[in-house]
Amino acid sequence: MKKLIIQQILSEYFDKYQIDQILQKLTGFTKNQLFFCEELDDITESTLKIITEQSKNWIPFEYIINKAEFYGLDFYVDNRVLIPRNDTEIMVDLVIESVDDQLNSGPVLIDIWTGSSCIPLSILENTPKIIETHVVDISEKALELSKINIQKYKNNIQQYLWSLYSPLISKDFSQSPVFITANLPYIKDNDFDNMSIETITHEPDLALYGWKETWFELYEQLIQQIIQQINQKLLQTVFLYIEIWFDQKEYTESYLTKLGLKYSIHKDNSWIDRCVQIEFDSYLK
Ligand SMILES: C[S@@+](CC[C@H](N)C(=O)[O-])C[C@H]1O[C@@H](n2cnc3c(N)ncnc32)[C@H](O)[C@@H]1O
Repeated sequence: MKKLIIQQILSEYFDKYQIDQILQKLTGFTKNQLFFCEELDDITESTLKIITEQSKNWIPFEYIINKAEFYGLDFYVDNRVLIPRNDTEIMVDLVIESVDDQLNSGPVLIDIWTGSSCIPLSILENTPKIIETHVVDISEKALELSKINIQKYKNNIQQYLWSLYSPLISKDFSQSPVFITANLPYIKDNDFDNMSIETITHEPDLALYGWKETWFELYEQLIQQIIQQINQKLLQTVFLYIEIWFDQKEYTESYLTKLGLKYSIHKDNSWIDRCVQIEFDSYLK
């Protein structure tokens, strides 16, 4: 088919950037190679129909092209995982900064609720200091997809199918500074006003909803697990990074203050309070 005709058909549903991305996915050509092609023989009318139907059915664009950009890197995505959000990049910035400041050798990275593993892989691609990485997710399908990205970036990462910190409770990390990142499913059930149709209909529920009464329960369980590990001398220097929703700052502050934990709250690219860095020094004996 002629490239011009393909572009015309797709332009009803997608913008120019998206059309370029779709054509690159369908042909395997680079942007530059595509520019010089007039005919794209591999693309048929039925292929285009499948793609335009996907758009009509509100399938997120990233799932259509099986690619999402995060922290300047491309990650494979489909409906097994949450599409990485730019709001989360601040967490990666903060961890890289703290890891690079570490004088102690052998920092360990643990990503709970890993999804596509965009957080640990972005950190590992940008700092050479981390010696050991573990990722946890409660969804087997999410871990299958995370493996694709781990293999793409050729990183040595241990995966665990379980909840929260549970699969790591017997590990002794007391000799290393440990960086724990967690972006939990924090949306209140049925809070549809703050979500797009694409997200509501196609992103996995397990990645979105974890809310019971205070919405913070999963983070509370994780924090309690970490304190328990410190009490048992299996963790010592720990930095925990969590992501919160725009209206959750007050509750977060009151909970962390109640526990006597030192914390700082950081804004995302849209100047919204998003990432909380928590230190556990007050629990060290
Ligand atoms: C909001 S997504 C975050 C994905 C990824 N970290 C990111 O930032 O794009 C949450 C992930 O947590 C997983 N999850 C939900 N409940 C969990 C639990 N109790 N323990 C471990 N993982 C859980 C979901 O399967 C989903 O992949």
